[in-house]
Amino acid sequence: MHDSTRRSFLQAMGLGAAALGLGQTARGEEKVIQGFEKAETDTEASKHWRPVSDRKLRVGIAGYGVCRFGLAFGFQNHPNVTIAAVTDLDAGNRAELAKACQCEETYASCEEMIKDDSLEAIFVATDAPSHGRLAIAALKAGKHVASAVPAVFGSLEDADKLFEAVKTTGRKYMMFETSYFHAELHDMREMYRAGDLGELVYAEGEYYHYMDTPIPSYRGWRVGLPPQYYPTHSNAYFVGVTGGSFTEVSCMGMPSIVEHLRPENNGYKNPFGTEIALFRTDKGGMARMAVSWDTPGDSGERGRIRAQKGSYYGKFQSGHGAQPDRPMISRPPLPPGVEAGGHGGSHGYLMSEFVDAILADRTPLVDVAQSLNMTVSGIVAHQSAMKDGELLKIPQYKL
Ligand SMILES: NC(=O)c1ccc[n+]([C@@H]2O[C@H](COP(=O)([O-])OP(=O)(O)OC[C@H]3O[C@@H](n4cnc5c(N)ncnc54)[C@H](O)[C@@H]3O)[C@@H](O)[C@H]2O)c1
Repeated sequence: MHDSTRRSFLQAMGLGAAALGLGQTARGEEKVIQGFEKAETDTEASKHWRPVSDRKLRVGIAGYGVCRFGLAFGFQNHPNVTIAAVTDLDAGNRAELAKACQCEETYASCEEMIKDDSLEAIFVATDAPSHGRLAIAALKAGKHVASAVPAVFGSLEDADKLFEAVKTTGRKYMMFETSYFHAELHDMREMYRAGDLGELVYAEGEYYHYMDTPIPSYRGWRVGLPPQYYPTHSNAYFVGVTGGSFTEVSCMGMPSIVEHLRPENNGYKNPFGTEIALFRTDKGGMARMAVSWDTPGDSGERGRIRAQKGSYYGKFQSGHGAQPDRPMISRPPLPPGVEAGGHGGSHGYLMSEFVDAILADRTPLVDVAQSLNMTVSGIVAHQSAMKDGELLKIPQYKL
């Protein structure tokens, strides 16, 4: 990442490195949290954008922690959105959030904010352990909900409750899994839908993020975090391509040498910094999904697939060899003023998809079934790793 880009990222977030609680590299450069490097915005991207309606949605934003996630997806720039209220439990974060999006209505907590009848939708960008509880409460209060990943945190019961809440309220729910709009994953999904891949025989996904010292987070939820409690970036490389699910899993881990990842040093009693899951897919295929915190070097969120009609390793290759001239299928247009943003230029697309789904009254791309099929499979994978790789069945969600 260029220094100028890094600077503009921090400026755009209204932050310096100190405010982010980040360190300095050996060369004295500011370090940006992995994944927040901004993609170049294609200035042509909004040219073909057409509004679904001229209505303005009243959106409430919850959470402005270390990743400043509440505003990272660009709700504040969408022509069909008014940010009508904001909240963070921390008064300082709350004030910064309100200032950054020029919103005068603030609430002391998300629980308070969802009582505001004027709000139609809530973005839950709080700490991961609170997503499930707050999303369910907001749905029951009649709001549409977008949630940062994961949908639920380590609890199969919460998963069932969230699924029920979406079905009984009929509100829209979407998890903002950033891998879904990586250019390659988007390309794979469009090819799959067009029938150009056949079924996936084998998929691989990885989320590699070295955390010897965990990012300081609300109540320390990242300390000792079981890797497969955070499985959606990797699992998206199957679920986000086919819309399908994993039915069973055998997962293995290796006891970590990193301090906070020793079971006696974290609240999860988790001994693993890397968990490698082998899944059976709903189409009878296989997937190997990896999450790792304790292996330095080569970081990233990515994946590749081998399907009946060809393989996708950076680009599509069929039995006739690489197809260098095949252009990638373009991602949808973005509303004017909305940037593609971080995590592979995915943020703006996810937010725009959620807003469009509400305005057009249709199911959003990352619906509750896909969100839970991506999340719950990881929770069961961690259970398997704790049982030395025992093959376990995974609950299935289908709308
Ligand atoms: N690529 C990605 O998709 C990606 C990247 C980074 C972070 N995330 C997700 O974004 C979320 C936020 O990350 P973070 O690092 O900023 O978290 P954090 O722990 O630093 O901050 C959470 C914030 O939520 C606030 N909060 C907690 N409960 C609340 C409540 N009931 N009402 C109002 N505010 C409340 C806290 O005060 C805190 O400021 C996490 O869930 C994380 O998993 C996703």
